[in-house]
Amino acid sequence: MHTVTVGDSYFHDLYNLIQGDIYSGVVPADNIRSDFTWSPIIGDSLNTKIFNLLNRRGFVLVSITSKPDIHELIRWQNEYLGSSMKDRGLNKGMYSTVMAEKNGKFFVNSNLTQPIHTDEGHTSVFPRYISLYCETPSASGGISTLVHSKGLLKNLKINFGDNIRLLFDQNAVCVKNVSGYESKSLLIRLKDGRTGISYSPILRGLSCDEPIFDVYSGITKYVHDPENQIRFRLSKNQLLIIDNCRVLHGRTKFPASDDRVLYRMWFSECHLSTMVNLTV
Ligand SMILES: [Fe+2]
Repeated sequence: MHTVTVGDSYFHDLYNLIQGDIYSGVVPADNIRSDFTWSPIIGDSLNTKIFNLLNRRGFVLVSITSKPDIHELIRWQNEYLGSSMKDRGLNKGMYSTVMAEKNGKFFVNSNLTQPIHTDEGHTSVFPRYISLYCETPSASGGISTLVHSKGLLKNLKINFGDNIRLLFDQNAVCVKNVSGYESKSLLIRLKDGRTGISYSPILRGLSCDEPIFDVYSGITKYVHDPENQIRFRLSKNQLLIIDNCRVLHGRTKFPASDDRVLYRMWFSECHLSTMVNLTV
């Protein structure tokens, strides 16, 4: 079978396409009402309701009534999202600060449009749940973009038929990331029988069989079409919680001069090797 290998030039072209105004600017986004309101006083009485909605819809928005201590916010989420996963990025702690820095090396500390992805989708260890607490929103731009995997999978099934099963293979793709080369699946069978995804559109390199590359390209095309996205502006003190296996996310660019500040938290570390079900 023909193997496709792509590297810097492929991902550079894709990166430039994603930074374009077609993706970032033309589709308006509104502020969105929170599903719940939380304060340290009411504590954990909301946890079940929040988790149920997260499980059903794949994301939840919670208003935080007063400026919280970030560690208190993490401890509260630990109660229903599981243990924190250490961020392998900049701070190597239980959370990362998401803000534009001069010459920031990663999307997380830049003002660029962030391609649609699942967190740590370039590797086989990733958080099941992620959350973003908005301390200071962007005045313009910085639109949150979510894509539900349910619609994506439906589209892939129509366009690629049974070939999407190939994405469950533990060695479906070989990716080049900061740590070197790693083989991984792109789709996973979750404990409840639903299908999860672990995907990153921008890599240092990718090698896979041609039918898999076709589906991978189909994912990239689908998720970056604004028509397939839920787009909204996070407001100050809103906490966005996402099922990182069922809802993909990104954000549009914003002015470098903006003081946009978010805190990103990761929960429930997952290992692809223990999740993949090859019998599916
Ligand atoms: Fe992310």
